Amino acid sequence: MENIIEVKRLQKEYNGFLALDDVSLRIKKGRIYGLLGRNGAGKTTIMKSILGLTFPSIGKIYIKGSPMNYKNKEQFSTIGSMIETPAFYSNLSARENLELFALIRGVTEKGAIEKALDLVGLESSSNKTFDSFSMGMKQRLGIANALLHEPEILILDEPTNGLDPMGIVEIRSILINLCKEFNKTILISSHILSEVEKIADDIAFIEKGKVIEESSMENIRNKCEQYTSYVVSNVYDSARLLEENYDNPNYIVISNRKIRVFGLDDKTNEINRLLTNNGIDVFQINTQNESLEDYFKKITGGDDN
Ligand SMILES: Nc1ncnc2c1ncn2[C@@H]1O[C@H](COP(=O)(O)OP(=O)(O)OP(=O)(O)O)[C@@H](O)[C@H]1O
Ligand SMILES: [Mg+2]
Repeated sequence: MENIIEVKRLQKEYNGFLALDDVSLRIKKGRIYGLLGRNGAGKTTIMKSILGLTFPSIGKIYIKGSPMNYKNKEQFSTIGSMIETPAFYSNLSARENLELFALIRGVTEKGAIEKALDLVGLESSSNKTFDSFSMGMKQRLGIANALLHEPEILILDEPTNGLDPMGIVEIRSILINLCKEFNKTILISSHILSEVEKIADDIAFIEKGKVIEESSMENIRNKCEQYTSYVVSNVYDSARLLEENYDNPNYIVISNRKIRVFGLDDKTNEINRLLTNNGIDVFQINTQNESLEDYFKKITGGDDN
C-alpha cells in the first residue's frame, strides 16, 4: 500500500530538549492514521514538522514519495490542516469566514465553500456568527477550512478536543465519511485512546517524543489478549491459589476486589471451584478483550510512566 506521507527518523530539539526522538511514521493513502499520546508527547510537533510550521533538527519527510520541500507550493496544496485551536473572525458567519480564507488562500473554484460546509454539516445560509458557535461548530468550521482547497490529505490536531460525547460522534462520522467516500487520507492526533480506537485504521503511540509502536488497528486488536476478571472477597488469597495451582499464571490485581487472569479463559469453572472451595466468595466472572487503553498501559508500563 502506498505511503502518502513518510516520516523518517525525525528529531526535534528545543534548546537542548529533545521533543522528538527518532520518529518514523508511514501514513498510507486513503486511511485514517491516529497519533496517540499524552500531553507533551510530541503529537503537535510531528504535525507541525510535516506542515513545515517547524523545522526538524534531523530527519526527512516525504509527501507522495517526494522529499518535503517547504518552497514547493504543489506539495502544500495536497494538504489541509487544523493545528490546535483554529482562529476565526468572531463577528463573521461560517460562510463569511470561509469566503475570507478562500480569498486569502486563492481558492477560486465555484461552490468550494458550499461543498466544504456541506461536508462538515454546517449550514451555508446561517447568519450565526462565530462567537455564538458551539465548540462542535467551531471544530467543524476548522475542518471545513482545511477542506477548502480540496486537499488529498487532512492533518487535524485533536479535532475532538473539548467536545461533548455527541459532538465527538459527529466529528467521527464526518471524518470516516471523508475517508471512505472522498478517499481522503487523514492524520489525527488525540490523547483519548478510546476515541482513536473507534476511528483509526492505523495508529502510532507517541511517548516522550518516541514512537513506542506503530501498527494497524487490526493488528493491535489481534494482539489485545482475552482475559477473565474475577470479582472476589479476597484478591491476595486468590492470587496465591492461582500461583499454587497453575504454572506461571499471568494475572494482574486490579483492585482489592478484582483480579484479571490472562490465558486461562477455558478454566473459569475450575478456577471458580478452586476459589470457592478455599473459602473465597466469587461475586462475578467476566471474560473480555483488553481495550486499547489496557494495551497502551501495558506497553508503556502503566499510568505513571
Ligand atoms: N516552541 C517550543 N519551544 C520549546 N519547547 C517546545 C516548543 N513546542 C513544543 N515544545 C515541547 O515539546 C514537547 C512536545 O510538545 P507537543 O506540543 O508536540 O506535544 P503534544 O503531544 O502535542 O501535547 P498536547 O497533547 O498537550 O497537545 C513538550 O514537552 C513541549 O513543551
Ligand atoms: Mg498538541
